[in-house]
Amino acid sequence: MTRAFLVLGGTGDLTGRLLLPGLAELVDAGIVAEPLEVLALSQENWSDDEYRAWARERLAEHAAHVPEASRERLVAGLGYRHGDVTVAADLRAGIERTGGIPVIYLALPNTVFLPALEALTEAGVPEGAVVAVEKPFGRNLADARALNAVLHRLVPEERVFRTDHFLAMQTVLNILGLRFANRMFEPVWNAQHVERVDIVFDETLGLEGRAGYYDTAGALKDMLQNHLLQMLAVVAMEPPAALDARSLAARKADVLRAVRSPEDMGRDTVRARYTAGRVGDRELPDYTAEDGVEPDRGTETYAEYTVGIDNWRWAGVPFRLRSGKALGADRHEIVLRFRPVPHLAFEQGTAAGGQVEPDVLRLRLDPDGIGLELNLNGAGDPFELERRSLEVELPPARLSAYGLLLHELLAGEAALSISDVEAEQSWRIVEPILAAWAADEVPLLEYPAGSEGPARG
Ligand code: BG6
Repeated sequence: MTRAFLVLGGTGDLTGRLLLPGLAELVDAGIVAEPLEVLALSQENWSDDEYRAWARERLAEHAAHVPEASRERLVAGLGYRHGDVTVAADLRAGIERTGGIPVIYLALPNTVFLPALEALTEAGVPEGAVVAVEKPFGRNLADARALNAVLHRLVPEERVFRTDHFLAMQTVLNILGLRFANRMFEPVWNAQHVERVDIVFDETLGLEGRAGYYDTAGALKDMLQNHLLQMLAVVAMEPPAALDARSLAARKADVLRAVRSPEDMGRDTVRARYTAGRVGDRELPDYTAEDGVEPDRGTETYAEYTVGIDNWRWAGVPFRLRSGKALGADRHEIVLRFRPVPHLAFEQGTAAGGQVEPDVLRLRLDPDGIGLELNLNGAGDPFELERRSLEVELPPARLSAYGLLLHELLAGEAALSISDVEAEQSWRIVEPILAAWAADEVPLLEYPAGSEGPARG
């Protein structure tokens, strides 16, 4: 039986910006059975043709890299049903209209996840159905637990897909290759050799008209509760025996369980929001002056925290996670800084007379690449050191992260998903930070748009 795709929230921003373009890539690559049956369910009182016209426009805007003929093949298989995603009868009608085993994708605001899942439980889903839930998975630990409980009544855990598109990014997947398909990194991948790890996702993008969602989330819930913790989990996990969903989820969950929330919130966490400034050739207003922002919410557009991992491999190594909007440069990377050598026989140090920096490994996202900074003998005096970097730039991935995720989903694989335990552990890690910030134990700093971020006192 073929898979059919049922999108709850099929007229939303996420569907138009990410899901339909991802599906179009799959059609174009010829790696899904065609016609790919996609049924969108949402509140608008539209016909199939009206939906197809909307989808065509979204695809022209967000999937211009996919040839028009392939986009049209996707559009031809699109159907639409008007309905309320929290009403069991509407969902049942939607499921009945899909001709295959459905992948039911909740492309909804996270406040609607629980009522929609409850309605799905009441409607009942066919044997073999997969349920995919977007991020953020709840608003706190209690929410995540409630969502997991209702999901487990609906389908077995192996058919739940908690989306985190960072897991499908080439460089994040490459961490598995780099670590576990090469002999040379794993022996030094531990506290004995690594001094610190930085996981950075600085964006030049501002709000991009997403205040409705972002102003109630903020940088911590948008990025550091999910994407950056998933990257931490992949960097820090023990080698899995296989790369199937179960092994990966178990190894990632072990790491997240061992992450200790910051103890000194003032020292180990930073929150800030941007003020007016210039990013490249764009002038941005104060975050608080953006359309739809409620200044009194005190939403941060920059978040940072440092955690430790209480296990044999990583005890004592700080992992610093940071992400912000409207910063001066896009910097998307995981940086492992190694410890200094035990004894340096090069008395003169570097040619510039400076200190000898330890080795640094940079795993860069978008454009994907790897850089390994080393100390090598200088070109002139062989007993002086020079800093050199071995650089690899990876060709662009064939599929976007959403394309790859959707491919996995349609194949019924959940290896690139977050498991129930991981989702709860991630909230367990950040909840004390959220509580300290809500109690104003940590000041909300400011940084001008286009700068490097908040200045620390
Ligand atoms: C999303 C966040 O999940 O990830 C956005 O909601 C962020 O705020 C985005 O900009 C970053 O991922 P990408 O793939 O767009 O670089």
